[in-house]
Amino acid sequence: MRSLSAIDRIAEWTWLDKPAGMLRDAVSRTLRGRRLKDALHGVWLGHPVHPAVAQAPMGAFACAGVVDALPGRGVGERRVSQLLIKLGLLAGVPAAVAGAADFAQGHEEQQRTGLVHALANTAALTSYLLSLRWRATGREPAGIAAGWTGLGLTVAGGILGGHLSFHQATGVNHADAVPHIAPDEWTDLGEVADLPEGSPTRRMAGEVPVFVLRDRGELYVLADRCAHASGPLNQGSLAWPDGSPCVECPWHGSVFRVADGEVVHGPATAPQPTFHTRVVAGRLQALVRRIPGVPAGG
Ligand code: FES
Repeated sequence: MRSLSAIDRIAEWTWLDKPAGMLRDAVSRTLRGRRLKDALHGVWLGHPVHPAVAQAPMGAFACAGVVDALPGRGVGERRVSQLLIKLGLLAGVPAAVAGAADFAQGHEEQQRTGLVHALANTAALTSYLLSLRWRATGREPAGIAAGWTGLGLTVAGGILGGHLSFHQATGVNHADAVPHIAPDEWTDLGEVADLPEGSPTRRMAGEVPVFVLRDRGELYVLADRCAHASGPLNQGSLAWPDGSPCVECPWHGSVFRVADGEVVHGPATAPQPTFHTRVVAGRLQALVRRIPGVPAGG
């Protein structure tokens, strides 16, 4: 029988689906516009923004906890810990917004854990708000206790965030292995004449499913499993926004430029691996490019 850690079990709590769905819908209604969502996902950065931005509030809160623990604290130390808490609260806003954007594009199990992660962080921020209020009204011991509570909740939220990333693969590049596991020699993908014009098909390059497109005399081959969460790109829709074909993933709507696999729109943040192509005796052959972001074909 599979043994589950306490954190693993959260992903099996189906009773969280209703509140998680409500939160997902609220986020989707609030965060509109592809540019905004692309910025929050980290398309410009090449990996998710949320884990990087979340370091700021965690660091500020941890430092406030250290200052609060100093023996013989005076007025100066008290001011420093309040300032650190304010900085942490301020930095928590962009971290929460970026995290919410990623949460809305997760699958059910990720959203169950993501909801608990968000609740822990919300409780932490509430504790710090109370801490500031109590410190400002002369209730220093209660303010420090609330700060310690906030730090404990921040750590709990951080552990859940790590689980989301490293165990549940939220935000990781699901296509990263392709250049390493695809055959390192030219692979036959069948007769060119059998490929429908302007409509993608799925073929296998060794163990790797690939998206194959014949479009106006060009042949394109790229990894079929979407970098965001392994969606089947061959079932996506095509568009030619600037004359060059782009494919939209059927699962969460990431858009990739077919020629070089670059991300046009998230939630994916990493490019799709592409393949060199050549035609030998009327048959298409493909060879993976070791460095993503290089045009497919030729
Ligand atoms: S699997 Fe999520 S956008 Fe493709």
